[in-house]
Amino acid sequence: MAATDLERFSNEEKRNLSLGGHVGFDSLPDQLVSKSVTQGFSFNILCVGETGIGKSTLMNTLFNTTFETEEASHYESTVRLRPRTYDLQESNVHLKLTIVDTVGFGDQINKDESYRPIVEYIDTQFEAYLQEELKIRRSLFNYHDTRIHVCLYFITPTGHSLKSLDLVTMKKLDSKVNIIPIIAKADTISKSELHKFKIKIMSELVSNGVQIYQFPTDDEAVAEINSVMNAHLPFAVVGSTEEVKVGNKLVRARQYPWGVVQVENESHCDFVKLREMLIRVNMEDLREQTHTRHYELYRRCKLEEMGFKDTDPDSQPFSLQETYETKRKEFLGELQKKEEEMRQMFVNKVKETEAELKEKERELHEKFEHLKRVHQEEKRKVEEKRRELEDEMNAFNRRKVAVETLQSHSLQATSQQPLKKDKDRKNFFSLPSAYSITTGRYVN
Ligand code: GTP
Ligand code: MG
Repeated sequence: MAATDLERFSNEEKRNLSLGGHVGFDSLPDQLVSKSVTQGFSFNILCVGETGIGKSTLMNTLFNTTFETEEASHYESTVRLRPRTYDLQESNVHLKLTIVDTVGFGDQINKDESYRPIVEYIDTQFEAYLQEELKIRRSLFNYHDTRIHVCLYFITPTGHSLKSLDLVTMKKLDSKVNIIPIIAKADTISKSELHKFKIKIMSELVSNGVQIYQFPTDDEAVAEINSVMNAHLPFAVVGSTEEVKVGNKLVRARQYPWGVVQVENESHCDFVKLREMLIRVNMEDLREQTHTRHYELYRRCKLEEMGFKDTDPDSQPFSLQETYETKRKEFLGELQKKEEEMRQMFVNKVKETEAELKEKERELHEKFEHLKRVHQEEKRKVEEKRRELEDEMNAFNRRKVAVETLQSHSLQATSQQPLKKDKDRKNFFSLPSAYSITTGRYVN
């Protein structure tokens, strides 16, 4: 359908018609209810508060059951989030409840990064939902939605003011989750102090720009109660799993030497207000706000980060197809650029290595030539020496032959004329006794 046809169609006047009889589409709300009931609901609560502040006790009190009683250690090196999911049933309504605990919150000496694991956990749940949504074959119908619907922020009942850790954490979370601040262990603070403490907390939240969840006042049915309850924030709560007999009734309470604090007594604490607002009146709004406000914000930022946009620079609608094409072209361009860079880098590297190898070859060649020269010189010297020695040997041999000949002659002469005279004997014995190679003469 062309755009102009679409415009004409949407501008067409809608006519109100009265029906002649009962058709049956007035059962649509019942159909929705029955479908929702069959499907069941999921609700995810994040409890942020220091170790031992009463998180588990409050959860057990809120749902009137015992989820867990395990104590966390005070020696965790970082904040860790621990989700636990429970299947609950009331009448024929099934609720998949996930309670996420912040283990080790407020126990580190340096608390600068304490908020980070909480933010990361919330974002991870949003991301998982987004990934499911972006799948070609989505199964959102039976998808276990783990996005946090409400964050109960447990404030320590100091009676003074909020700690900087509380302000920083709430500030980091307020755009990601519905925050309901509560003053924990409210039985440890007096009535007048509590009143002043509540005012102080609210003014600190406002002055630091922390957005907490406001119970909706746009639905007439709950507008009045919600606006009254908004004025009671932060709720001062008391939790207890103990049952104490008050009159002839067993009630959840905390017993002290001076009296009993009843959890469900509105003049003792705001526990009932919290339960009403959280579970009975605004559970669906919390789920809706999570989807339409917080998740939507996450999704928008994420898609924009990925390069998707709704309008082009001239404020014209930008279709998903166009965005995809542009992104694809950008990506291919970038890929080609990278490939070219890599190729150039490779060529340069090869050239460098080639030059290095050539230089090495030249050096080796020079070394070889030098060694060859040295070797030839040595060879020449040895040759010379050998010749000298040969000459000397020849001379020696010649002299030796001469001496032998001389000796043989003298021996012959001696055998023919026996030695009689002393002079002859002397001459005979004064023959050379040694022959010098260097001088080539006989020495005495
Ligand atoms: P971790 O899980 O160990 O961080 O503790 P937690 O925050 O879950 O606290 P938990 O519910 O285990 O309670 C810690 C202690 O505080 C227990 O002894 C509870 O009985 C006590 N406690 C819980 N709620 C209240 C309360 O409203 N008032 C008072 N006075 N004590 C409470
Ligand atoms: Mg606990």
